[in-house]
Amino acid sequence: MGDPGPTGRFGQFGGRFVPESLMPACIELEAAFRAAWADQAFRAELSGILRSYGGRPTPVTECGRLSAELGVRVLLKREDLAHTGSHKLNNVLGQGLLAQRMGKGRLIAETGAGQHGVATATAAALLGMDCVVYMGEVDIRRQELNVFRMELLGAEVRPVGSGSRTLKDAVNEALRDWVASVGDTHYCLGSVMGPHPYPWMVREFQRVIGEEARAQCRELLGGADPDVVVACVGGGSNAAGMFAGFADATGASLVAVEAAGGAAMTTGITGVLHGMRSALIQSEEGQILEAHSVSAGLDYPGIGPEHAHLGELGRARYVSADDHEVIDAFQRLARTEGILPALESAHAIAWVIANAGTAGLPVGSTVLVNLSGRGDKDVAQVRDILRA
Ligand SMILES: Cc1ncc(COP(=O)(O)O)c(C=O)c1O
Repeated sequence: MGDPGPTGRFGQFGGRFVPESLMPACIELEAAFRAAWADQAFRAELSGILRSYGGRPTPVTECGRLSAELGVRVLLKREDLAHTGSHKLNNVLGQGLLAQRMGKGRLIAETGAGQHGVATATAAALLGMDCVVYMGEVDIRRQELNVFRMELLGAEVRPVGSGSRTLKDAVNEALRDWVASVGDTHYCLGSVMGPHPYPWMVREFQRVIGEEARAQCRELLGGADPDVVVACVGGGSNAAGMFAGFADATGASLVAVEAAGGAAMTTGITGVLHGMRSALIQSEEGQILEAHSVSAGLDYPGIGPEHAHLGELGRARYVSADDHEVIDAFQRLARTEGILPALESAHAIAWVIANAGTAGLPVGSTVLVNLSGRGDKDVAQVRDILRA
C-alpha cells in the first residue's frame, strides 16, 4: 500500500474526477501533503500531538473470555480509547496541521453520524481555526447530541436539504463550499475517498493504527503476526490504516466487513462519485442508491478506491454483516469483555463470531480486530432496538 503517484490511481480505481474549478485546489493539496509527509519536523509535531492530546499509542487488548468461547485468540486494537472515541482524530489532526502549514485558517467537513464532524470540530478548537460542518437534515435529526457537541466545540453545523439529505449530499455541499472558498479554507474529508490526494493522504494519516498494532502484536505473540486482521468499512479509513501495517509486510489475511445494506464491494458497480472511480451502489441507470445500516457511520454508498483495488487483487477479502448480527456482537463484547463497541466496529466483531472455527478463521488461529470506536454514542439506539 504505497504512493499512488501523481494520477492517484490504484489499478483502475481512484483518480481525480473534479470540476475544473477544483483541480488547482487538489493539486495544491497534493503538493503540500507530499512536502509535509517528507518533512521529519511535521511528522514529529503530529506524533507529539497524537501522543500528548490524542492518547496514542492506543493499546492492544487480549480478549480472554471471548477467545475461550470462540476457540480463536481475539486481540483488539483499541481506537475506542483515542480522544473523541474513535480513529477519526488521527486523520483530522493530520489535516488540521497541514491546513495551518498551508496558511489556511478555516476547516470544513462533511459528516453523517457526526463522529468525523466532532473530530474536526475538536481539531479546529485545539488549533484555533474556524470550522463549518455540513450535515444532512435527516442525519441532524438522528444525531442530535453530536450536533450539540460540535456546537459546544465552537463549530457551525450547516444543514443540507438537497437530495436524500444524508452523508453523500453533505459531501456535495462541502465540495461546493470548497470551490468558493479555497483561498482560506481546507476541506477536511473524513475517509479514504474523494479525489486524489484524499484516499492516499487519509490512509497515510491512519497508517499509525496498523504500524502500532503490528509492533504490539509481535510483542504479544513472540515475534509472530496475527493470522487474520479484520476491520469494518464505511468509506474505509480505519481498515486502510490497519491494513497498511500488514498488507505488504506480512502474510496475514485481511478481512474488511461492510454493512449488508451498504455493501459496495459485494453488490456495487464501478462508477464515479465524489471525484473518484470506485465500487458504488447504484441502479442500472447509474443512480446512486441509499445505503442502509444500523450504524450511521457505514451508511455510505461507496468505498475508497484502494479498497476496490485490494479486493480486485484478492489481497483483502470483502464481506458483510447484517444489522441483527451486529446488535448481537455489540452485546456479546459488552458481556464477555466489558467493552461497548461502536456499532460500526461491531461489524468486525460480528464477522469473527460468525466465522470462528471455519476455514477463514480456524480453531487456534489469532485474529486482530480494529475496534474503531466506542459505543457510548449508540447506547440509546441499541436500547430502542432491543426494547422494540
Ligand atoms: C467508529 C467508526 N468506525 C468506522 C467508521 C467508518 O468510517 P471508515 O470506514 O472511514 O473507517 C465510522 C464513521 O463514522 C466510525 O465512527
